[in-house]
Amino acid sequence: MAEIPDMALQAEADYLIQVEEIAAKYRGKPEDIVLALHAVQDLKNYLPREALSVVARVLEVSESRVYGVAKFYSMFSTTPRGRHIIRICESTPCHVMGKTEIIDSLCNILGVEIGGTTKDGRFTVEVSSCLGVCGVAPAMMIDDEVYGNLVPEDLNKIFERYK
Ligand code: FES
Repeated sequence: MAEIPDMALQAEADYLIQVEEIAAKYRGKPEDIVLALHAVQDLKNYLPREALSVVARVLEVSESRVYGVAKFYSMFSTTPRGRHIIRICESTPCHVMGKTEIIDSLCNILGVEIGGTTKDGRFTVEVSSCLGVCGVAPAMMIDDEVYGNLVPEDLNKIFERYK
């Protein structure tokens, strides 16, 4: 009975050790907070408060400074997210080329709203400004992969590639 909490505590302890190891690469370089946070976020796809505290301690900067950086940049999240992040472009060229229809279909298929995470924890859906691929509007990214010239019929097949 007591094994599950013990395992959860152990997993949390292991996670914070990993955070400390990553942060240690940036020790003495407070100007590299963004790089450190990127690397730490890759572990869980978001930045828990405890991880921010570790980064602040190791980089010898205030927690409020680290927290401020994490809140300032849209690529960081301080709330839990899914295993894969979908970013749908909502800038003008993608809007003109049908992003509203893509967003409606996508939210319908996955059963989430913008900003939400699927019940199985597979995807978090976010909107983004221009992804830099306007020539293939409407476009979205899933993690680091770009998908362009989207039509609603493509979406199911694309989502099947992600577990
Ligand atoms: S406007 Fe959508 S990728 Fe540039």
